[in-house]
Amino acid sequence: MHPKRKKLWEEIAAWQEQFENRLIKTIGKRKLPTKNIVSIEDLSKEDMQLIFDCARLFKEFIVKPDKKINLLKGMSQINFFFESSTRTRVSFELAGKHLSVDTINVTGSASTIEKKGETLNDVARTLNAMHADIIILRHARAGSPGMIADQISAPVINAGDGWHEHPTQALLDLYTMLDKRGQISGLKVAIVGDIKHSRVAGSLIRALNCFGVEPNVAGPPTLIPYGLEKVFKCRVFHNIEKAVKGVDVIYALRIQLERAAGGDIPSVREYSKCYCINLERLAMAKFDAIVMHPGPINREIDLKTEVMESDKSAVEDQVENGFAVRLALLYLMLGGERR
Ligand code: CP
Repeated sequence: MHPKRKKLWEEIAAWQEQFENRLIKTIGKRKLPTKNIVSIEDLSKEDMQLIFDCARLFKEFIVKPDKKINLLKGMSQINFFFESSTRTRVSFELAGKHLSVDTINVTGSASTIEKKGETLNDVARTLNAMHADIIILRHARAGSPGMIADQISAPVINAGDGWHEHPTQALLDLYTMLDKRGQISGLKVAIVGDIKHSRVAGSLIRALNCFGVEPNVAGPPTLIPYGLEKVFKCRVFHNIEKAVKGVDVIYALRIQLERAAGGDIPSVREYSKCYCINLERLAMAKFDAIVMHPGPINREIDLKTEVMESDKSAVEDQVENGFAVRLALLYLMLGGERR
């Protein structure tokens, strides 16, 4: 081997050993106490803090040139996606690969469910019989991840189920707030848009409440479930200017036209006029406020391009943090020892 190449390999090996030692020293053999993450409520505040501590270490790891480490070698991860996904599926797959997990992707259209009429439960039990170590499921039906989690011994992570929840999105969102603002408790957060069809809002409001944050929730009356403020700690606004005034974080949601949101608004143009985050609305928040969005973004409807391109946008930070959080989750669910 060329001496320069040999030196590079030696440096990478030394760095990887150093990283693994730091991970073991900081996180120890702690593991999340829950078998499944179906809802963000499966995690306590303490569990979320452990995930954030672990994600912080993995954030240093993801910028390195050689990211493959043997921490979870020999394990298998099945990414079972019945709906389209870029951020969640790719980051879970990359996270598994970097930890040396064997990752397998199964899509709805290629599965025996859509082609041959097999039930979701039977397919999950089949994958379990092959000793899959973890199953990541996205499905249009609310409750699907919980249903299969009850049937099989492999841990299940909900990667988004219908209008219900998207717990790993809430984790990366809270981690981004922590990373950008230094704390979660005490933050003023406005969540704007299509709350009714949003699994992101379903997990985010629960997660913020866990840290004592009572968000402002803003949108047209038809896109906010009636009585939301009686179920969760939040304040409901229909006037966006009032909702974003003086907040630390503006969190814009995607208007979900594919989930019938179109029937709840007079027109997309009208919605955009009343609720799109533009520079004027951003200026009503704190001077150092950040703007977040889970993606994919409807430009000029959820967020103006001028806001997306501004230094207040944390959208790409969310994506990067999502990768670090999912590395942390795999490590904390498949490695170490259960508390
Ligand atoms: N935020 C989110 O879930 O994005 P994807 O649909 O691309 O996974």
